[in-house]
Amino acid sequence: EVDNTNSPKDEIHELLQTLEQQTNWDGSPLFKYNGYWFPQHFFRPILSFQKHFKAKDSDIILASSPKSGTTWLKALAFSIVNRNVYPINQNPLLNCNPHALIPSLERHLYSLQEHPNLQHIPNPRIFSTHMPFSTFLPDSIRDSECKTIYICRSPMDMFTSGLHFLLENKTQNDTVLPLELNEAFDMFCHGIHPYGPFWDHILGYWNAHLKNPEKVLFLKYEDLKEDITFYIKKIAEFMGCPFSLEEEKQGLIEQIAKLCSFENLKNLEVNKTGNIRGVLKNSSFFRKGEVGDWTNYLTPDMAERIKKIMESKFEGSGLMF
Ligand code: A3P
Repeated sequence: EVDNTNSPKDEIHELLQTLEQQTNWDGSPLFKYNGYWFPQHFFRPILSFQKHFKAKDSDIILASSPKSGTTWLKALAFSIVNRNVYPINQNPLLNCNPHALIPSLERHLYSLQEHPNLQHIPNPRIFSTHMPFSTFLPDSIRDSECKTIYICRSPMDMFTSGLHFLLENKTQNDTVLPLELNEAFDMFCHGIHPYGPFWDHILGYWNAHLKNPEKVLFLKYEDLKEDITFYIKKIAEFMGCPFSLEEEKQGLIEQIAKLCSFENLKNLEVNKTGNIRGVLKNSSFFRKGEVGDWTNYLTPDMAERIKKIMESKFEGSGLMF
């Protein structure tokens, strides 16, 4: 039901007045809400999502910070779940960007409508979100049997990837130039970036995973790069659709790994030319796909600074990058 007592626009206007504000790397405003920084235009969808989304027990939620491997995880989850629906050579990924197949809750579904009807989506429904775990996810995601798969990545690569993404999608109409690398990096180290601080985002899902590993799977981009076969099996088991011996013998896991590989997806026509809702270039989601590209952009001092932040924030958590 839509709350008509206050128009959402007024509610949000009033809320924003009370929040600390900063300027994002691209010059747009960021607001701090319950400890995390969000771009202004996501407030309405974020609040609608929190208020209206009802998770089903069979739902699968793919969660991440931006630039941590969301696109890859979407491709993998889609292909694993639908492996008996489409033969590999007819997989919709061959013609659609992964973000068009698995919608983002706050960036897509709840940004199009206050209260979208998601009932018609066949089970298991797969959605993505960049929202932090703590207090932000609707209660039904935490309280239902639905499963969450979180992917994170070395913050240095996440930062590097984010800057390129911003530059790649900058339109000619953008009046404000992005910040210099040094300034953007300094803000990142203070946790001021969309959905940041990154350490709280990662720790929130890490602790949820430790508390209930059957409900929250915690993945690292670097681990998937190291041994994708192992993680495809792990994701399938976690989602409740493990590969049979017969499927393994047929080489289905390797076929899915190849279909979802960076090289394959990047070179598909749809990902070279298309865009997402006219705003983001499909190609901008496939840049280098490497571990450690940060060494080409960050100085050793910058790396040392991030490492120290991680050491202090992750101390005692069991998390390492
Ligand atoms: P780089 O910018 O370092 O290349 P997200 O999907 O969360 O936006 O993250 C984007 C990052 O994941 C980009 O990193 C992108 O190249 C990489 N990526 C996209 N698809 C991938 C795939 N299939 N395999 C490995 N990396 C992928």
